[in-house]
Amino acid sequence: MTTKIDITLSETKKEKPESGQLEFGRVFTDHMFVMDYSPTKGWHDARITPYEPISLNPSSMVFHYGQTVFEGLKAYRTEDDKVLLFRPEKNMQRLNLSNERLCIPQIDGDFVIEALKQLVAIDKDWIPTAEGTSLYIRPFIIPTEYYLGVAPSKFYRFMIILSPVGSYYKEGIHPVKIFVENQYVRAVAGGTGKAKTGGNYASSLKAQEEASKKGYSQVLWLDGVEKKYIEEVGSMNIFFKINGEVVTPELNGSILEGVTRNSILKMLSHWGMVVSERKLSMEEVYQAYKQGLLEEAFGTGTAAVISPIGEFYYNDEKITINDGETGEISKKLYDTLTGIQKGTHEDIFNWVTEV
Ligand code: COI
Repeated sequence: MTTKIDITLSETKKEKPESGQLEFGRVFTDHMFVMDYSPTKGWHDARITPYEPISLNPSSMVFHYGQTVFEGLKAYRTEDDKVLLFRPEKNMQRLNLSNERLCIPQIDGDFVIEALKQLVAIDKDWIPTAEGTSLYIRPFIIPTEYYLGVAPSKFYRFMIILSPVGSYYKEGIHPVKIFVENQYVRAVAGGTGKAKTGGNYASSLKAQEEASKKGYSQVLWLDGVEKKYIEEVGSMNIFFKINGEVVTPELNGSILEGVTRNSILKMLSHWGMVVSERKLSMEEVYQAYKQGLLEEAFGTGTAAVISPIGEFYYNDEKITINDGETGEISKKLYDTLTGIQKGTHEDIFNWVTEV
């Protein structure tokens, strides 16, 4: 296992975008982190290099069977110019969970956090400071063996790239509209749903495209067997406030174990709210809506942060929540979470790590 990181700095510096105009994931910083895996050397050749194209043989397994995993986390710059990461150890744990499911060798999470800190420190000036912006960190692993047989690759490349980002949704912190998907499914028990692997996202595109044509930002996935129980929204986990209870679907193997989801559950419990992780059917949500008991809905995710939901399209009917406005809990969660992440709120849970 490698412990040393070689650093080659870029000779040119790209122009940085205006912080107030950032989209999600379109612009990349000057450097990236790379390391390789082989059966004899393990993970080796850790290096920070200029951000540049990589060259791969067309027979590299990454182009064929989707044996890939990735993560997403963010760095923030505080008012006194410190750089903070939010719970990076949770991302490393989940990366290794995904690795396990996809037959990819485990990585040393502590070493990767160290590499990530060095990379972020080098590209620190890229961290945007405008409201709602941050530096998105994308670690990912691809199989690099040249082989067309269906088998786990023997060689891999691990990379981390950085992108200064604004809101994931064009709506920003305003409520999004979600289409409840009743034809396609995202994942099934025993599948790869809880792993952060490209295939889960590829299989979501068709439904996403159809929903988008109807004016909906995302789809809400129901369980893959009965299409009855709520799972997640593809780019975020989901919460509802029904008659005073805040509820999110329990982890069942096909739902992604979001770091933001976990943090929100802890914050809500700390505030003394009634919080449950349980099976929740769309019909229960619909009946709550009919009885005037559906108070709020919001998504949670690293990219999406807290995204209030103003409307669902379910069985040919529009369900409007909180008059399409941001609810009280969504607002309080957003302010507190981003406050902790940006160092303006006390970090009572010990979640942030300084770079
Ligand atoms: C994240 O929130 O980091 C995600 O991975 C969602 C992504 C697919 C944009």
